[in-house]
Amino acid sequence: MMRTTADAVVVGVGTVIADDPSLRVHREMIPESPVRNPWRVILDSKGRTPAAAKVLDGSQPTIIATSAGSTRAWPEHVQVLRAMGEHVDLRHLLTQLYDLGMRTVMIEGGSKVLASVVRERLFDRLTVFIAPVLVGGTTAPSLMSGPECEGPDGVVALVRTGVQPVDGGVLLTFIPGRHA
Ligand SMILES: NC(=O)c1ccc[n+]([C@@H]2O[C@H](COP(=O)([O-])OP(=O)(O)OC[C@H]3O[C@@H](n4cnc5c(N)ncnc54)[C@H](OP(=O)(O)O)[C@@H]3O)[C@@H](O)[C@H]2O)c1
Repeated sequence: MMRTTADAVVVGVGTVIADDPSLRVHREMIPESPVRNPWRVILDSKGRTPAAAKVLDGSQPTIIATSAGSTRAWPEHVQVLRAMGEHVDLRHLLTQLYDLGMRTVMIEGGSKVLASVVRERLFDRLTVFIAPVLVGGTTAPSLMSGPECEGPDGVVALVRTGVQPVDGGVLLTFIPGRHA
């Protein structure tokens, strides 16, 4: 549902490899939603997106954000945005998306990408769905991975702005708090 309000839906190549998501709006589940096809944006510095991935099927407008050095050839229908260096520069990419007219960008994950977004404070709203299940285990996926938090400067404060029961779980919404 949230994708219907976005101009672009962004994921890292780790999510594409792990889940092969379509990143489309599932209109069959929300027939009342406005007809809107957000851009799919894949962060893939080295060109690791599998050739058969759903995000390359041409069914939705798609951008691959990659590095200057990647020599991977992409299908013609895919728009390629290249970073100056060896890795995708998320801040620069967001300005490129803005220049292309995108104003609402939804970054879905995975955990490494969310770590970059949060640590670089590149978000103005964070939405977390707490499902009514428990997983556990040392390899259970977490919201954020990436580099370890090194002391108080690495802690990102949040202000809760919403609590909404959804399907037995709860949807929490936050905005960035003041930096400690
Ligand atoms: N619960 C949910 O809603 C949800 C949503 C999405 C994903 N997931 C889960 O998350 C897992 C995948 O997460 P993941 O952490 O392995 O991978 P990820 O965050 O999806 O992708 C990480 C990769 O993205 C590339 N990347 C490009 N620019 C980046 C940047 N600025 N910051 C970070 N990464 C950047 C890097 O590869 P290169 O260096 O090659 O570019 C990096 O290795 C899957 O298990 C998936 O199921 C869950």
